[in-house]
Amino acid sequence: MELKDLKGKRALVTGGTKGIGKAIADELAAAGATVIVSARTKPDETTHHFIAADLTNSDQVTALANEIENTFGGIDILINNVGGLTTPGGGHSTLTDAHWHQELDLNLIAAIRLDRILLPQMIEQKSGVIIHISSVAGKQALWNLNMAYAVSKAALNSYSKALATELADKGVRVLTVSPGATRTEPMVKFLNDYAASAGITPEEGMKQLMAQTGGIPMGRMAEPEEVAQLVHFLVSPSAAYLTGTIYAIDGGSLPVVS
Ligand SMILES: NC(=O)c1ccc[n+]([C@@H]2O[C@H](COP(=O)([O-])OP(=O)(O)OC[C@H]3O[C@@H](n4cnc5c(N)ncnc54)[C@H](OP(=O)(O)O)[C@@H]3O)[C@@H](O)[C@H]2O)c1
Repeated sequence: MELKDLKGKRALVTGGTKGIGKAIADELAAAGATVIVSARTKPDETTHHFIAADLTNSDQVTALANEIENTFGGIDILINNVGGLTTPGGGHSTLTDAHWHQELDLNLIAAIRLDRILLPQMIEQKSGVIIHISSVAGKQALWNLNMAYAVSKAALNSYSKALATELADKGVRVLTVSPGATRTEPMVKFLNDYAASAGITPEEGMKQLMAQTGGIPMGRMAEPEEVAQLVHFLVSPSAAYLTGTIYAIDGGSLPVVS
């Protein structure tokens, strides 16, 4: 999309230094937005404003929000992209309390905390868009691979819907984007590790894994830029009547009507 429809908008993309977050940051900047990216580690180079923050640490989330308020006077677009699968497979018996807390902190609480701090300014200006980057796993858990991650994304879906309803008459839209397998570093590593442990090629590993979910009808992973283009549309003025809905971008892989 070449539209310069985000001119004058301030956007924060959490985890905007790599993978899907970086693609979203680049896409929104190309559309004219002033883009701030956050992550734990400063990238070697970025054309966006960078603020370091570990979003599983509440003090660092507050510091991030304060810096945005002081430097930019607030934001118009918040992309809660930070998240990921950080716990082992193997089902319920391998997952400890610590694993559950870790997955919920990263994939659910980080977004809830940041929304809570940044929302008063959006509500005051009577406009804003929040996107929660979830996963198709939030609707289809694989017990042996991603149980705690899937549960945390399902909770994120539910929270996002409730928040959207609460804010619908205050000018703030809230939406959820659920990618399927997307070609980013952790996904490629996950596939390589799975294939190595099974003694098969990464391509065969991908087929085996995807077979557990019914496969990807389009036969390939998403590119991060494809997710970014969907996010661009959803935060744009063209999507003014959309709130409270979930958008899967998965090449047709979710096997149910949702
Ligand atoms: N890739 C997929 O196949 C896929 C599929 C469905 C959903 N998703 C979702 O899409 C989102 C992005 O995934 P991705 O694959 O693009 O991940 P990625 O390439 O690993 O990028 C993650 C980004 O988040 C930052 N980050 C990680 N932990 C953080 C923390 N505790 N505090 C602050 N920043 C942190 C990373 O930078 P630092 O490491 O420097 O902090 C990086 O910028 C996640 O929510 C994921 O669940 C991905």
